[in-house]
Amino acid sequence: MKPMGIAVIIGGCFMIQAPVWAESPSQAAMLSNTCAGCHGTNGSSAGPSMPTIAGMPETYLLETMKKFKSGERPSSIMGRLAKAYSDEEIKMMVDFFAKHPFGREKQEVDAAKVAIGKQIHNQRCKKCHMDEGRDSEDSGILAGQWKQYLQISMSDFRSGKRKMPEKMAEKVDGEGKLTPEEVEAVIHFYSSQQ
Ligand code: HEC
Ligand code: HEC
Repeated sequence: MKPMGIAVIIGGCFMIQAPVWAESPSQAAMLSNTCAGCHGTNGSSAGPSMPTIAGMPETYLLETMKKFKSGERPSSIMGRLAKAYSDEEIKMMVDFFAKHPFGREKQEVDAAKVAIGKQIHNQRCKKCHMDEGRDSEDSGILAGQWKQYLQISMSDFRSGKRKMPEKMAEKVDGEGKLTPEEVEAVIHFYSSQQ
């Protein structure tokens, strides 16, 4: 009995001192697996309306989950879902998805729209959605995102349902306000990115 008692004590001390991450890889994977039904294995969605969430900047994913939780960002599903997780669990999932690559699938796009969309992107969007929408600290990834999801995002923004960042609103709805056709074109441009 004695040796076992010592082992328990040693075990107990070790548990207290063990860094949290010692257990987190499998726990993070397990938690993240509950998102796979909609967002695909490791966060790369099979489409067409579910967004890919892999490879996005951690800050964007964290902020987004917070906004879903508080209701600041409108949603059909994510608000209710985000409330079911603690901040710690969300952080674990965010770490998990951020470090997997954003998978891109070939989507049906209209070449003429892609060409017009590229011009609009260069004139109005690339300052924040850098590298054709692949790179950004605080806006997620647009390059290769599913077209139908981007259409929903833009329509939520333009209807005022989802708050558009002020500086983005200037480029979308300010001087020379984009027509619905121009918005559609820029969405085709982002969806065409491989
Ligand atoms: C039943 C389907 C479903 C499940 C399960 C699901 N999501 Fe979502 N997710 C959505 C939908 C739909 C959206 C678009 C917002 C909305 O309408 O809810 C979304 C949007 C998101 C976004 C925003 C992407 C962007 O580019 O801004 C993130 C981040 C996200 N989900 C994370 C998660 C995480 C983490 C989990 C697992 C806990 C999860 N989702 C589980 C359906 C789902
Ligand atoms: C001043 C910086 C800025 C400019 C310019 C800008 N955006 Fe954004 N964009 C952002 C930020 C920040 C977000 C994230 C908003 C949020 O967290 O809800 C965003 C989000 C988006 C989203 C939503 C992505 C998603 O996952 O739901 C789309 C689509 C988008 N922008 C398209 C555009 C287009 C098209 C243009 C050019 C006409 C543009 N943006 C110009 C900063 C910008």
